[in-house]
Amino acid sequence: MPKLTIDGKEVEAADGLNLIQAAEHVGIEIPHYCYHPALTIVGNCRMCLVEIEKAPKLQIACNTKVAEGMVVHTRSDKAKAAQRAVLEFLLINHPIDCPICDQAGECKLQDYYMDYDQAPSRFPLAEKNRKGKALDIGSDVMLDQERCILCARCTRFFDEVTKTSELAIFERGDHNRIDINPGQPINNKYAGNVIDICPVGALTEKDFRFRMRVWYLHRTASVCAGCERGCSIDIHQQRGRIYRYKPRFNPGVNDYWMCDEGRHSFLGLQHETRLTTPLVQSKDELIAETWGEAIRRAATIIGNFKHQNGARSIGLVIDAHATNEEAFALKQLMNTAIGSDRIAGLSWSPPGASGDDDLLIRANKNPNTRGLAALGIAADGLDSMALAVAAGELKMLIAFRADIVRALGEAEFIKRFGALDYLLVLSTDANETCQMANQVWPLAAYPEIDGSFTNFKGRVQRIREAFPPPGDALSGLEAITRLGHALDGAERPKTAEAVFAEMANQVPAFKGLNFDGLGLHGLDLSKG
Ligand code: SF4
Ligand code: SF4
Ligand code: FES
Repeated sequence: MPKLTIDGKEVEAADGLNLIQAAEHVGIEIPHYCYHPALTIVGNCRMCLVEIEKAPKLQIACNTKVAEGMVVHTRSDKAKAAQRAVLEFLLINHPIDCPICDQAGECKLQDYYMDYDQAPSRFPLAEKNRKGKALDIGSDVMLDQERCILCARCTRFFDEVTKTSELAIFERGDHNRIDINPGQPINNKYAGNVIDICPVGALTEKDFRFRMRVWYLHRTASVCAGCERGCSIDIHQQRGRIYRYKPRFNPGVNDYWMCDEGRHSFLGLQHETRLTTPLVQSKDELIAETWGEAIRRAATIIGNFKHQNGARSIGLVIDAHATNEEAFALKQLMNTAIGSDRIAGLSWSPPGASGDDDLLIRANKNPNTRGLAALGIAADGLDSMALAVAAGELKMLIAFRADIVRALGEAEFIKRFGALDYLLVLSTDANETCQMANQVWPLAAYPEIDGSFTNFKGRVQRIREAFPPPGDALSGLEAITRLGHALDGAERPKTAEAVFAEMANQVPAFKGLNFDGLGLHGLDLSKG
């Protein structure tokens, strides 16, 4: 590995790295616009000019590979003068409309102007080139051509990653502009990524712009639950309201990207159908009750079925949106406090959902099918449950995050499960299955809980509580431990960390993993 010096710091960097990457290793940021680690290098913005001893002139750091004995200065007078000149050049035709730009707070033009320039503009506003503003170019993307610095990150993304090439640079010289081909708007499933990688306010998100200044947003590292890929994301929220999801770099899962469907999936979590209090059926309608009443009622009914029909008259369906910890804790509850082995997983995808592609999207729209399988919960157990209902053996069903009615269709559900005596549903939303239930318990959604999902390749990744659930909704683990305590008086671990530790101790696939060790990128299930 070559050894070099950057701003007086010794760096040992792997062969093939460029100077921007090597500098990052020792905490030095070389300013750059066009360079992106996942795209080809074009070296067109010139913002990354640095001084290299013995080189006749300044070099662009993005296209200079590390070499033994190299001595690099990124903040020398010469380098800074060049960076300042490049910035002034890039700003010549910029409209300087920062106060009304939605990129403010995450704009590299603003940041670098404060770091490297701070000089007043020498170019009169009236002489600046005028280009298109607030152009709807398709998908969720708005374009402001005047703010664009022509770094070509967006065109390279569509050329190299999605291979759809919707954007191009038109015209010449200072009339250069980014645009779509006339009449051909952006139309691919990953378009939102160009908004993330545009370093300035030229590409912004229709759905998000002008809704919240970014410095008011809180970020929580989590996982998209939109499909079994489980892309790493950051949840951006304020006071329990999610404003956007952003992809988070994870080389083992999604690299730098996410799909638009996943990006917008938080919208489905914020609708008015969220459950906020336990409900019980009374005279053909669901009425509110307290958690104390709800737990006591369920414990009594479970006790009665056990006594009259045996423990196997009680079954459990766990949806593959449950976390690993919830599924493990439920399985333990069934085995110990209830004594029944009738447990089925539910992993289904809505008809017409997008299929597998060769980038990220998976046809299986459940984040934890593999996690359930690792815990020995088969995702095809509904058929045997239905047979047990028909045979009069299964009387009570607990549906955990499982919208069985929507998965099967109402007629099919009634045909297979209509003879049940009792249905207890634990759900985030008042879904179709709740309408059939005797009791409904409100659960926290996945941005409101700690836990983990296992993606289809066996990568176990953490989700984190970004904000508390609404009303009296409880985390799945809290509801499970309260029910368990009411059934047998035993205390059970209720934090995701404690449940994970027990799971790693008992389930071979999770052996050797620990909750904290999952970090930001997750770890693979044990192969042993
Ligand atoms: S729109 Fe953004 S990403 Fe595309 S070339 Fe302009 S500045 Fe770069
Ligand atoms: S590919 Fe799947 S996990 Fe990734 S962002 Fe899209 S829906 Fe979410
Ligand atoms: S980042 Fe090096 S030239 Fe643009």
